[in-house]
Amino acid sequence: MTQAASREDYLELIRHLNELAYQYYVLDEPLVADAEYDQLYQQLLALEGEHPDWVSSDSPTQRVADQPLDKFHPVQHAMPMLSLGNVFSDEELQDFVERVSNRLGKAGMDPGTIDFSAEPKLDGLAVSIRYEQGQLVQAATRGDGTTGEDITANIKTIQSIPLSLRGEAVPAVFEVRGEVVMPRDGFKQYNQWAAEHEEKVFANPRNAAAGSLRQLDPKKTAQRPLAFYAYSVGVVEPPHEQTSHSEVLRWIQSLGLPVNHLNQVVQGAAGCAAFYQHIGQQREALNFDIDGVVYKVNDLAWQEALGFVTKAPRWATAHKFPAEEATTVVENIDVQVGRTGSITPVARLQPVTVGGVTVTNATLHNEDEIRRKDVRVGDTVFVRRAGDVIPEVVKVVLAKRPVDTQAFAMPSHCPVCDTPLLRIEGEAVWRCPAGLTCDAQRKESIKHFASRKAMDIEGLGDKLVEQLVDAGLINTPADLFQLRLSQVSGLERMAEKSATNLLAGIEASKDTTLPRFVFALGIREVGEATALTLATHLQTLPAIMAADTDALLALPDIGEVVAQKIRQYFDNEDNQAVIQALVDAGIHWPAIEVPNESSQPLQDQTVVLTGSLSRMTRAEAKQKLQALGAKVTGSVSAKTTLLVAGEKAGSKLTKAQQLGVRVVDEDWLLQQ
Ligand code: IVH
Repeated sequence: MTQAASREDYLELIRHLNELAYQYYVLDEPLVADAEYDQLYQQLLALEGEHPDWVSSDSPTQRVADQPLDKFHPVQHAMPMLSLGNVFSDEELQDFVERVSNRLGKAGMDPGTIDFSAEPKLDGLAVSIRYEQGQLVQAATRGDGTTGEDITANIKTIQSIPLSLRGEAVPAVFEVRGEVVMPRDGFKQYNQWAAEHEEKVFANPRNAAAGSLRQLDPKKTAQRPLAFYAYSVGVVEPPHEQTSHSEVLRWIQSLGLPVNHLNQVVQGAAGCAAFYQHIGQQREALNFDIDGVVYKVNDLAWQEALGFVTKAPRWATAHKFPAEEATTVVENIDVQVGRTGSITPVARLQPVTVGGVTVTNATLHNEDEIRRKDVRVGDTVFVRRAGDVIPEVVKVVLAKRPVDTQAFAMPSHCPVCDTPLLRIEGEAVWRCPAGLTCDAQRKESIKHFASRKAMDIEGLGDKLVEQLVDAGLINTPADLFQLRLSQVSGLERMAEKSATNLLAGIEASKDTTLPRFVFALGIREVGEATALTLATHLQTLPAIMAADTDALLALPDIGEVVAQKIRQYFDNEDNQAVIQALVDAGIHWPAIEVPNESSQPLQDQTVVLTGSLSRMTRAEAKQKLQALGAKVTGSVSAKTTLLVAGEKAGSKLTKAQQLGVRVVDEDWLLQQ
């Protein structure tokens, strides 16, 4: 846009950007490429820079407030936010539909023909958002149903919630209700980021959504990948004309708010039951947690006739999925030895079905956790399983504790190699200090060496590593490269074909990269990111092995502890011998290009990588960016200058667009 842009042009640009956001978030049908949106957003920023007095409250630049709140203020709901009754079986569902039918009292009505709006029951936080004259003016949590908390500033940071309603005919007052959730992909990414940055890691997406909405600083909330789905209206003035709930949902969507695409109108108990089955089958694959489905009588006049019982409507009910928590008995408590010697107590359980899956083991994390929960052999405990997370013991049912139990005592010696265990001050875990002379650590470190992000040895799974170690065929990763066909095919359940494939996989893995190799060594505290830092900055294996603590501390993101672990690892003669044997076996990698000023077009740029890449691994992309001079960080912030977005880029892309950050794709990076 040129200097001559008028305020009208500016408002038109906002309208256009908001429409693009609607297409993207609500209809899931983007109209333009990200880069184009980005360019328009930049124009908007430029105009607002030139004309600060023009800035309109529904500009996408106005989502994140500068000032943190000192507390959340109470909000009285003009219309209470209700809860729902429950049914837990098809029989109870049948009863519910019959009750509805009987109450409606229409002679000769077949309950099987009653229309219901069937919807997923999202597992997040209920909120009510109020628009006046089309502008978002207030958002509140459900609270006790009557009084909630004012979370307007946080709700505004959610990209899919419009700051102003769409269309010409917007009601003077419009309250929309729905659920704020953290999508599963965003949850995983966020937790990963949080773990790396010593921020709070959340137990599940629901807690993450709740924690995010309870942030006093909206800037923080803006960094959390939240989504919203509307499921009903509150106060609407003047009253709307829709006569069914499904029409209301369509209307809500046309006003610009996201409505869940799984919602469906079904008939009678049979239709509801089929919907329950159908959603149950999709549950694992969905990108958000649900804890059941909801059925609502679709006809609004009938809803009114049915009315309410205390806090829940008679015209709706929730049909819950089997719980993700169950109780069972602890049969034993074992300890497991990890790759770095960490000792993890594990509860062996009487088999129990949790959320449809049989669980026999649950982690007890560490000594402090076990002591805090006081879990004992013989105890009845609550076990929780959430998504693909390892099941954990939540708490003990003390009332059911047998009389003769004993508090759990950590073993004093390694259960595998019998070396006395150590617990370093300030650390939560006990460790077996025997290193690679301990069979358990030997197995785990070889598994790590072979794993996908390390040497990526095809055909070498965990079971096979155990077999090879148990058979005495390998002691260190270097021994893998000396294996002969006759040895491997002699193993139990190993056909000649698989043995040949395994050796081919081992051979192929020799062609690797320096960051992968360094990561594969399994140095404590050296994850993929640190391995990459070491490789890109120090460039050769001898240089990495020789770097003293000061040289290590000079590298980005390497602190005292990590530097110390790296030195300890390379100072150990056994480790040096293994590395030498690996190099002698022919493991090799391409030289790391030495960057010079002229080949560093991304100097001074702070870059974030997101989405999935198809032609390079994330680590490779990161290495390339760093070689180009960029600083690569994990999350999008005001400091970010460039976002490399792969397929299915999610919240980071959104955030970057919101902040007006330049966005490029994988092709672009490959061409640099
Ligand atoms: S309707 C009067 N629809 O479930 C009806 N609620 O136990 C009020 N929820 O607090 C709610 N998905 O947070 C409704 N599709 C859906 C829902 C849903 C999730 C939650 C909501 C509410 C709780 C009711």
